[in-house]
Amino acid sequence: MNKDPLARFPALRMRRPRMAGWSRRLFAETALSPSDFLWAIILKEGEKLREPVAAMPGVFRLSPDEAVGAARQARDLGIPALALFPYTDAKARTPRGEEALNPDNLMCRTARAIKDAVPEIGLMADVALDPYTDHGHDGLMKDGEILNDATVDILARQAVVEAQAGFDIIAPSDMMDGRVAAIRTALDADGFENVQIMAYAAKYASAFYGPYREAIGSAGVLQGDKRTYQMDPANAEEALREVALDLAEGADAVMVKPGLPYLDIVRRIKDAFGAPTFAFQVSGEYAMIKASAQNGWLDGERAMLESLIAFKRAGANGIITYFAADAARYLTS
Ligand code: PBG
Repeated sequence: MNKDPLARFPALRMRRPRMAGWSRRLFAETALSPSDFLWAIILKEGEKLREPVAAMPGVFRLSPDEAVGAARQARDLGIPALALFPYTDAKARTPRGEEALNPDNLMCRTARAIKDAVPEIGLMADVALDPYTDHGHDGLMKDGEILNDATVDILARQAVVEAQAGFDIIAPSDMMDGRVAAIRTALDADGFENVQIMAYAAKYASAFYGPYREAIGSAGVLQGDKRTYQMDPANAEEALREVALDLAEGADAVMVKPGLPYLDIVRRIKDAFGAPTFAFQVSGEYAMIKASAQNGWLDGERAMLESLIAFKRAGANGIITYFAADAARYLTS
């Protein structure tokens, strides 16, 4: 593209289109709509429970019945899908995270309740063991090492259990090698060839997951860090290789996580592959905006919308975000 402007100042005035609201709207290169969001929701056992997450003001752990209410809200706001994550008490966690395979676990029961009440809403399930393990890691641990292949076997079974419960999108967030192919094979073998896979393809070992780990009860239990499986924030070429692999293994969509600090990765993936590309605006990103707004240091609503449009500008097809309902409410009012 020739970036040399045909006209020059004073014939050309870049401010001219910015002068009025109607014109700014007309000249906008990207737009945000409720259809862009997957609403991230934290679940907890109970009834009529809305338990505040301290590090995420405005986010609550919801019991299954309350999650059904959130699904109704999402439908009414035009949000296509929810992404569910379970809180698990330290006492209920085990070394191998067996609860992940329980067809009646919190995730599965909630999915069934939502699909009964609000069948038109899409449901995404995280695949990883960290909500269920007593060491807080995404996979099986032996002598301090996170085992790859043994973990993949369990994750494939976890994905089938989630599909059976009614989840439409399986989202492996574990970063084990080979898990997308294994999950695709397992889903197809069970007759779930239309269940989608959205791979956390470029998932970085990030400090921005801190509030989430508190939200799901992993904060106190996590031993060490996740740097032997999640990516080094220094790397971008590696993200492209991860995405190429996940697409080759059958991922329908790929995800970059965290979001805002990694917009360069979103753009490069979109340009290189043209595949459906999503970004996860993670708990720490949410918390930063909320905490600053609570202190009166910035305008929380504007910061929320600015952060969300940035994902679209970078090429994301959609955003997994805790802001989904707030943003959709703003956009539809
Ligand atoms: C775990 C998982 C994490 C998140 C989603 N799935 C955290 C982690 O890898 O430790 C983070 C979500 C967020 O921070 O909002 N498999």
